[in-house]
Amino acid sequence: MRSIMKLTTGMAAVGLAAMALSSCGPRGNKPNVEIIQDMMESPAIKAQEYEEEAPHHRGMRVPPEGTAPVGFEPYKYATDLDGASKSLKNPLIGKMDEETLLVGQKFYETNCALCHGYKGEGAVVANASVTAKMALKPPPVVSDKVKGWTDGHLYHVITMGQGVMGPYASHIPQKYRWQVVNYIRFLEKQSK
Ligand code: HEC
Repeated sequence: MRSIMKLTTGMAAVGLAAMALSSCGPRGNKPNVEIIQDMMESPAIKAQEYEEEAPHHRGMRVPPEGTAPVGFEPYKYATDLDGASKSLKNPLIGKMDEETLLVGQKFYETNCALCHGYKGEGAVVANASVTAKMALKPPPVVSDKVKGWTDGHLYHVITMGQGVMGPYASHIPQKYRWQVVNYIRFLEKQSK
């Protein structure tokens, strides 16, 4: 029994010494002391790393066809503006409470106001330097034209863009996009 105890204490001492050594960071220009060799070299390929076996030796791979990231919901009207205008229903229709509008305002002012103006008045009056050199000036979003659109049409333009305006799907998560639609409806009412 005593000899076993001695042995374990001995092993613990060696272990501690090894840990102390291996945890020594690089000092000056001396490299790490690596006691247990394999533990610093992970077999997993990290993003951006070189991989001998991969096509073009890229560590990052293209996801297999037909797969989607967790939580991703495909937008079924991607190429169907008509379908979106007619069938996409605003789940927050008429909701003009502070909570809804503040979310809409946050995303509108971050992503849209620089081109369409803080009041939706368009580039002409907007104090927006980015629009100065744009050949096609961003139109107002409080126009009679946009007022005549369904909420689905507006949602579609935010998601997919329109003409020279790019899509904002990656800037405004799906669950906050209707709030932006409602915020534009709010700006329209203000502009009367
Ligand atoms: C970089 C400038 C820019 C940004 C940022 C921008 N847009 Fe636009 N937007 C445009 C331009 C330019 C057009 C006209 C595009 C066309 O019809 O070819 C346009 C068109 C529109 C229209 C259609 C208006 C009409 O009369 O046809 C709506 C609605 C609209 N944008 C909403 C938004 C919203 C909402 C955002 C923010 C999520 C946004 N835009 C961000 C430049 C921008």
